[in-house]
Amino acid sequence: MARPRVLIDTDPGVDDAIAILLALASPEVEVVGVVAVAGNAPLAQTALNARRIVALARRHDVVVAAGCAESLSDHVVEASVVHGRDGLGDLEWGEPDVPLDPRDGVDFTAEMIHAGPLTIVAIGPLTNLAVLLERHPGIDREVEHLVIMGGASFEGNVTPAAEFNIWADPEAARRVFAAQWRITLMPLDLTHQASLNDDDLAYFASLDTLVGARVAAMLEPYAQFHLAWHGRRDVFMHDAMAVYEVLDDAAILKCGARVSVETGGVHSRGATFIDRRRVHTDSDVRVGVSVDNERFRQLLRARLATYRD
Ligand code: BDR
Ligand code: CA
Repeated sequence: MARPRVLIDTDPGVDDAIAILLALASPEVEVVGVVAVAGNAPLAQTALNARRIVALARRHDVVVAAGCAESLSDHVVEASVVHGRDGLGDLEWGEPDVPLDPRDGVDFTAEMIHAGPLTIVAIGPLTNLAVLLERHPGIDREVEHLVIMGGASFEGNVTPAAEFNIWADPEAARRVFAAQWRITLMPLDLTHQASLNDDDLAYFASLDTLVGARVAAMLEPYAQFHLAWHGRRDVFMHDAMAVYEVLDDAAILKCGARVSVETGGVHSRGATFIDRRRVHTDSDVRVGVSVDNERFRQLLRARLATYRD
């Protein structure tokens, strides 16, 4: 059977970087492109960061394109406290030798959908996908699978109600969840079960490779953020859960649900209402419920160890 073709829609972001490196090191999938969106940093920065990560992986065959710079929801997004001012922990990087593709990222995504069965892994705000729906009505039904990291059943991380990717563009998220794709959602309730600890950081540093050193260095300020905000240095691997789902669909336990998004509200803007009170036979959305973090950590360690200088 052919490997799933995967396009990653992303706003790198430290945990996006880990997710991308995991995907690029995994033989189960063929990554056909990485498309940036504004989120953890402005678009010019997230596009640069996507090029940095693909160059670090030495995957010059993978297209990197830039999508939308502005969210469809009118507000300012700021995430430097989590990911650093540059989105990747403010390390020194040289100019990446992976170019930015001249195609618009949303148009490139449409091209990839038309070229054959495509799985989209969306690990940033959903702006690019909402614009894709607007430009190409009905294209949602052509997509094989859409795996999203976003939302929360019980508690957000930007506000008590809202998770970052949805909060950053609730209007886009509303449109994406109202469309007809086969969606698998990895909300915070699931991704908070997936973390790396200081032993993992030490392990990556000990690999003595460029990838190992960069990963350890990017994760250090991310661990300091987690200590300050969550009381522990263990770092959440939100976005890698969306990739993990595509690598092994048995790894994450899921249930059926209906998802709606709060686009207004004084305190609840960007909240997701994940209705899993019963299994909805008419729902195309499945939601991640639990994951074996030990198994995930071992897989991530093994895959990142395959990168050689
Ligand atoms: C999500 O927000 C971003 O900061 C992370 O990269 C992840 O996609 C977690 O809420
Ligand atoms: Ca992200």
